[in-house]
Amino acid sequence: MRTLFTVTAMLVMVGSLLAGCGRGMETPTATPAPTVAAEQPAPAVAEAPAAPAGDAEKGRQLFVASCSACHGPNGEGVQGLGKDMQHSEFIAGLTDDELVAFIKTGRPIGDPLNTTGVDMPPKGGNPAITDEQLMDIVAFMRSIHE
Ligand code: HEC
Repeated sequence: MRTLFTVTAMLVMVGSLLAGCGRGMETPTATPAPTVAAEQPAPAVAEAPAAPAGDAEKGRQLFVASCSACHGPNGEGVQGLGKDMQHSEFIAGLTDDELVAFIKTGRPIGDPLNTTGVDMPPKGGNPAITDEQLMDIVAFMRSIHE
């Protein structure tokens, strides 16, 4: 009888040891697998603003030829003729396409948006300028904008 009791007691002890052991083992396996973050797609790299399609150097030459008489060779503006382009919020607020459209239209004195009482002629008065050249001019205007 005593032997049976001892064996039973030992079995209980062994059982609880194993149980304790088992519980002890649970902790590390319960930690969330660190693979979750790795499986996430890498955060999309912020897309760089689309580079101007135009060529700023070609644009500079076109600008000097067709725009600088009123806007200055570096777009700094000429008092009483054309506006400063380097600090123009209007220019900064337009997309390249919108800017091209604006240059094609100009801003005549009669336009309620005209701010100087001086005419901004369509394409600066040079109807030969192509859309592609306007994109070059826009690229140049972006490059001088501060
Ligand atoms: C005959 C003079 C003249 C020429 C040439 C000229 N502009 Fe202008 N431009 C103006 C005037 C004047 C204004 C301002 C109109 C106003 O009062 O709002 C202006 C305004 C602008 C503006 C808007 C600026 C702003 O802040 O509102 C842009 C953009 C512009 N011109 C681009 C050009 C480009 C590009 C060319 C060459 C293709 C050109 N201009 C040629 C006279 C000229």
